[in-house]
Amino acid sequence: MRYLPEFLDRSAQEQVLRDLREAVAQAPLFNPVMPRTGKPFSVRMTNLGPLGWFSDRAGYRYQASHPATGLPWPAIPDSILAVWNGISNYPHPPEACLVNFYGSDAKMGLHQDRDEEDLEAPVVSISLGDTALFRVGGTVRGGKTQSLKLASGDVLILEGPTRLAFHGIDRVINGTSTLLKDGGRINLTLRRVRKP
Ligand code: SIN
Ligand code: MN
Repeated sequence: MRYLPEFLDRSAQEQVLRDLREAVAQAPLFNPVMPRTGKPFSVRMTNLGPLGWFSDRAGYRYQASHPATGLPWPAIPDSILAVWNGISNYPHPPEACLVNFYGSDAKMGLHQDRDEEDLEAPVVSISLGDTALFRVGGTVRGGKTQSLKLASGDVLILEGPTRLAFHGIDRVINGTSTLLKDGGRINLTLRRVRKP
């Protein structure tokens, strides 16, 4: 795993935020639910790029359009692509940018990112807004885990042997950033889905 604290400075974070506002106006945040149980996630999400990650009672999958509007997801803006291009060490563009919005009580259980066909490409994660307590372990469920604080502008890369590491968000620490006017946290996860 590679951790790049403060990879994006404040003005780069503000540019990403402006681009996200435009995209979210076209592709509004929605409340996904867990497969089978239909239990809602505590995060709200949307996607950018040719494919978007999505969960409903039928399961986890990638799809090309927004579940509510039926429209294609907006393109991934240059301000976000630049991060992938700068640090992924991967010669093809990402196909999906999952946008997760965490309100003050949101969290995410330990999971692996394994719905992609191309596991050669890294997972690149960008944090914006309030600091989160991130938990990361090995590739076996129930193994030892470590905690890391992810602050606004931090970038984390799961690659090589850590590509399938279990990870999740224990909690968001309110009031730790002034980037988002009403607080909360945004995480962007860039992924290649199909083999090039
Ligand atoms: C995720 O694994 O989808 C999100 C991780 C994060 O919010 O940092
Ligand atoms: Mn994940």
